[in-house]
Amino acid sequence: MSTVAAVAFAGAASAADLTVGFSQIGSESGWRAAETAVTKIEAEKRGVDLKIADAQQKQENQIKAIRGFIAQGVDGIFVAPVVATGWDSVLEEAKDAEIPVILLDRTIETANPDLYLTAVTSDTVHEGKVAGEWLVKTVGDKPCNIVELQGTVGSSPAINRKKGFEEGIAGHDNLKIIRSQTGDFTRSKGKEVMEGFIKAENGGKDICALYAHNDDMAVGAIQAIKEAGLKPGTDLLVVSIDAVPDIFKAMADGEANATVELTPNMAGPAFDALKAFKDSGKAPPKWIQTESKLYTQADDPMKVYEEKKGLGY
Ligand code: AHR
Repeated sequence: MSTVAAVAFAGAASAADLTVGFSQIGSESGWRAAETAVTKIEAEKRGVDLKIADAQQKQENQIKAIRGFIAQGVDGIFVAPVVATGWDSVLEEAKDAEIPVILLDRTIETANPDLYLTAVTSDTVHEGKVAGEWLVKTVGDKPCNIVELQGTVGSSPAINRKKGFEEGIAGHDNLKIIRSQTGDFTRSKGKEVMEGFIKAENGGKDICALYAHNDDMAVGAIQAIKEAGLKPGTDLLVVSIDAVPDIFKAMADGEANATVELTPNMAGPAFDALKAFKDSGKAPPKWIQTESKLYTQADDPMKVYEEKKGLGY
């Protein structure tokens, strides 16, 4: 039997046989851009034919893209859902077409978990909790007014990182969240909202710490803090989530204090799960959890910055 015939007979799909459609949210943050870049790299490594649709932050564009991938008959669909609700009908269409859907980095709310094969995400509640616990430890018994920059309204990481942080500071009545508003995960909105917080809180003098649901908003806020004549990282503690290179630069400059890492490589485990499912028909675990690691100024942020920059995404 020739090799080609043997492979056809075994019916095992090599990764190179796979065509995957990826409905990406957009490019709101450095982390998101890194995730897109890593997805391309991981697809290329495996010879997967990858089609990416950029939804420019709109759920309706994601739904259209998913319908387009169904019409093309792709082997699998990856979705990074911009918000948590409103996915059931389009995912039912994918299910009817027997196309497995994998959620990347964000989860959805549905009464029917059979609508997706697996979700590759971190524990976003845990991330918020780690940030809160770090702050509790750092502040000690001192009173501390916290301002919070939330991610995109209705998105799973914004909902969960808020919840987790509140759990992390629970029982420590000296720590209080005095203001909380969305900065939509973007640098520009993070700066704008922080300017408002500073204005409302005695030129920023009544704020002890900033908790941002991602590093990009923290970086924008750091700029606002500096423009208000205060020292971020010293006058105001700064803790956020993602661990993108720019926050390590800010940590090395003493302008940010801590970040919780979110790997941008959600696609590698997702491609492997899809291929294993195609080969064996056996469903992967419903949740493929990625790691979350806390970095502080004690972790040689300049070295981490250079290492992360060296990865090229
Ligand atoms: O879903 C992951 C979050 O989305 C990242 O923390 C944030 O930077 C992004 O835009």
